Amino acid sequence: MTTIDLPSVHPFLGQDIKDHFVDGRWQPAASGGTFETVNPATGHRLASLAEGGKADVDAAVRAARAAFEGPWSRFTPYERQRLLHRIHDLVAANYDELALLETLDMGAPLSRTLGFRSFILEAIQFYASQVVNTNGQTIENSLPGQFTTMTLKAPVGVVGSIIPWNGPLISQWFVLGPVLATGCTVVLKPAEDASLSLLRMAQLLQEAGVPDGVVNVVTGYGQTAGAALAEHPDVDRLSFTGSTETGRSIIRASAVNIKRLQLELGGKSPDIVFADADLDRAVPGAAMAVFNNTGQICYAGTRLFVQRSIQDEFVERLAAFSKSLTVGDPLDPGTNLGPLISQKQLDRVLGYVSIGQEEGAVVASGGARLGGDLAEGYYVAPTVFADVSNTMTIAREEIFGPVVSVIPFDEADEALRLANETPYGLGGAVWTRDLGTALKMTHGIKAGTLWVNCYGAIDPAVGFGGYKASGYGSKGGPEHVDAYLYTKSVTINTD
Ligand code: NAI
Ligand code: MG
Repeated sequence: MTTIDLPSVHPFLGQDIKDHFVDGRWQPAASGGTFETVNPATGHRLASLAEGGKADVDAAVRAARAAFEGPWSRFTPYERQRLLHRIHDLVAANYDELALLETLDMGAPLSRTLGFRSFILEAIQFYASQVVNTNGQTIENSLPGQFTTMTLKAPVGVVGSIIPWNGPLISQWFVLGPVLATGCTVVLKPAEDASLSLLRMAQLLQEAGVPDGVVNVVTGYGQTAGAALAEHPDVDRLSFTGSTETGRSIIRASAVNIKRLQLELGGKSPDIVFADADLDRAVPGAAMAVFNNTGQICYAGTRLFVQRSIQDEFVERLAAFSKSLTVGDPLDPGTNLGPLISQKQLDRVLGYVSIGQEEGAVVASGGARLGGDLAEGYYVAPTVFADVSNTMTIAREEIFGPVVSVIPFDEADEALRLANETPYGLGGAVWTRDLGTALKMTHGIKAGTLWVNCYGAIDPAVGFGGYKASGYGSKGGPEHVDAYLYTKSVTINTD
């Protein structure tokens, strides 16, 4: 494992951080308590962070409310755009450090976190462009007399954001972008396992000139700090990415003051390979649809439906491809897959691997924790299950690890029926050379984001969101920004 001098990456590594970032400065946590964030590649502590609670969330929401009513509310669209452009340049200049912090904190290979550079910079530019593209309308009415009707757009106010650990840099920009584009303010609660890139981002935003209180970060656990934010009566909108179960508690908490919600929750996405597909692309494509980020992606294509006539060849090639992947040190440029985020997720994933075997699925490759040099980290071999049926536990429940279930089918209609037999509706894909088959499947699959002959390609200008128990509300795209505004219709009588 590469050893690294932590304070040289960022001064807060190795430290006991007892502060939250509130109202433009570091402020001590009310409780004085801290918790540890570790490097999942080694299990070693990276830093201790302030353990936030209700009092800290109250202070942050107060700061966000005051900022929403303050000078920030008088920023012109041009000023908000210029601010986003300054942020773009600062993030670009500091991106390598952000990527390294993220890798140390959550374990994704550095090649992956560095690889998101252009996505994040494009996202910032996209949100900057939307500042002047979120206008109301004038509407022709049928009222008798001389009436003019128009709509005005206004920012919804204070946003609460609960971020997961599987890709915090991207997740945070799916909130910071629309907040800064529209003139809202925000309190973010990062995941307890991976808060560092957001704490660093808050410093950069401050340096770029974001007014005090516009962006606040309270670290801590979900059931305390997260729940306090979800319940807070002065938060107008919540953005949540995480488990469906926690999503349900967020919905209940939102009832207090009827908060607007965007929820991106669990998934069990179908990835359907037809016999006529280009297997040289479909095999690695379907494998990485699950194994990317060690399977910790909400839209991972974990139910891999393969047409029966190519099943044996496909499983063999998939297993061979899986064995060719390098699992290991995230800092090594040759690494394809890093560790899982935590002991808790390791136990969960290995638990599902056992359940799969007990229920009769066959392990075609992987299926175990990795030892040797990797024994201290939370590493699992990429795992292919063959002979899976859509009713087995491993095909129904989100595993959130590098585990794919191959399920055979005969006809397109059967594949469609099986694909939709799930409470989830996040992503999905089809691999075929036949345009008719591709269109039949994309029209038929009940999910928010679909791909043909590729998997997981996302662009900030194209919204993606879920359906059914995978949640609602878009991330990215113009509709995402619009959701941070509310509409007033105004009718003017000039008779
Ligand atoms: P989680 O949903 O509990 O955690 C996600 C975020 O919510 C974290 O910031 C956490 O602190 C916060 N949180 C937890 N309980 C909360 C509450 N009562 N009120 C407000 N905020 C709360 O998920 P966890 O435990 O990290 O992972 C469990 C499973 O959730 C994973 O195995 C995976 O299946 C799913 N998950 C899905 C993600 C996605 O991208 N859709 C991301 C993370 C987890
Ligand atoms: Mg960590």
